[in-house]
Amino acid sequence: MFNRGFRRNRATDNENVSAMRPGDALRARQRSSLIAPMNRKLPIIVVALVVAVFAFGAWLNLRVADPPENAAVGGMVVNVSIGGPFELTDHTGARMSDEALRGNYALIYFGYTFCPDVCPTELGEIAVALDVLGEAGDRVTPVMITIDPARDTPEVLAEYVPLFHDRLVGLTGTEAEIKDVAEKYRVFFRRFDDPNFTYYLMDHTSFVYLIDPQGAVASMFRYGTPPEDMADAIRQHMRIRANS
Ligand code: NI
Repeated sequence: MFNRGFRRNRATDNENVSAMRPGDALRARQRSSLIAPMNRKLPIIVVALVVAVFAFGAWLNLRVADPPENAAVGGMVVNVSIGGPFELTDHTGARMSDEALRGNYALIYFGYTFCPDVCPTELGEIAVALDVLGEAGDRVTPVMITIDPARDTPEVLAEYVPLFHDRLVGLTGTEAEIKDVAEKYRVFFRRFDDPNFTYYLMDHTSFVYLIDPQGAVASMFRYGTPPEDMADAIRQHMRIRANS
């Protein structure tokens, strides 16, 4: 999620070294003396944000346990109460609560449509996991809850979700509703304003939550979990339920 910042730095460096003509060096020096304070500050901001995100991850991990009966299932098994009821607005503009997901599995991801890389990657992985599951995948509803409700209106979500999966449900809400559901799922998010840009990005934790047919969080998958592993874990959850 910080890649735009890095790209920008690289672009600035290239600009300074390419095609120098007489006078350019001076201009470049003048320019870099203007840019430098920002370039010095930016890494500090980025490092601080990375530390914050990792600290949150560590905090979450401290609370992760794996009871023996679930250890083989895959994904993370969590020992704190994570999840809970919500009522939000879907990408068609209709109100939708967590109860609409009961009776089937769901994969819930918290992200935002303007995300340059992390969110689209993870949503793509969810779609692959459903494909890998084949027919069993029909019993899993993919859901994206936005953490950027200011930009992600139902209309924006309606254009975005079909890019990933024809059954992907996009959910948005008021700032208070999103704050509430994010707290329930222990999702950290924060608007990240870079003075170099006219737009903003969001920092956010990136987990995929597997919700069971009763509405409980059955597993969490870290960002980067291969879709095959997600599919395996889901299949095993289904098998355990079928046998119990
Ligand atoms: Ni993202």
